[in-house]
Amino acid sequence: MLVGNATHDDAGVFLLNETTALVQTVDFFTPVVDDPRLFGRIAAINSLSDIYAMGARPVTALNLLATPAGGIDPTIVAAMLDGGQEAMAEAHTSIIGGHTIDDPEPKMGYAVTGIVNPDHIWRNNTARAGDRIYLTKAIGTGVIVKAVKDGVADAGSADAAAVMMATSNADAQNAIAAVGDPTACTDVTGFGLLGHLWELTLASKTRAIVWENEVPIICGAESLAQKHGFPAGSVRNWEFVAPHLVNRQEPSLRRRLLADAVTSGGLLFTVPAEQARIVEESFQVKGVPLWGIGEMMAGTPTIELV
Ligand code: CO
Ligand code: CO
Repeated sequence: MLVGNATHDDAGVFLLNETTALVQTVDFFTPVVDDPRLFGRIAAINSLSDIYAMGARPVTALNLLATPAGGIDPTIVAAMLDGGQEAMAEAHTSIIGGHTIDDPEPKMGYAVTGIVNPDHIWRNNTARAGDRIYLTKAIGTGVIVKAVKDGVADAGSADAAAVMMATSNADAQNAIAAVGDPTACTDVTGFGLLGHLWELTLASKTRAIVWENEVPIICGAESLAQKHGFPAGSVRNWEFVAPHLVNRQEPSLRRRLLADAVTSGGLLFTVPAEQARIVEESFQVKGVPLWGIGEMMAGTPTIELV
């Protein structure tokens, strides 16, 4: 076993032979959009994300599906599976089986297996003081998905969040790999940007400085958070991460958004400062969004928002 549970990394890694290691992860959740086909796609894109975050290539997937017995139109289930199948095909990943159960609340996701060269695993515990911190997707999907479920989201915000969730991290992985291995990498999901950054910071024994105004937030998320509040998961995230923040008194709404629970978020990675420009150029050439959001320093693990 090369990567297990201890470092809360994105996937487990098991060495097969000198050049190949197996990478395994599983993710499934309740619908985050109304359109069943789009939900299937997002479920697949989200399940693949942990594989990309490890620097690995996905190869096979098993479907996990929960639907209400007799209480759902079979064409809706077919659309969910089609959306997932399409995203897996784009990722050159074969769906080789699955399992379905009865459940009053629909759920879908995948267990994905990937492969990686054991010398090029992108871990979350290997960031170094002096590294730059980068993010590849805007945050705020938790607040927007809640507003959509409550029926209070505007179409613009809902669409922007859907596009974000349905975008694969494969291109971002490619843009990084074109330069080389990052010093550390993870993806931003349920723990929110601050939660996942805290895991990376703690595991790497570094101190993170976040340039809070550089963090991209989906247009509309801030006003929806103000009017309709945060989902329970985002509130828990803030309470979890607050003790590790240097500046935690009376957080502004924007600061609390940094802990918003994300669905199918971007890659969060670090590279040495001297590689920052060439990495930014690589993303620019490939047309993949990228935001520099902070830097790692030496010291007791904490996160400072500046
Ligand atoms: Co992850
Ligand atoms: Co995951």
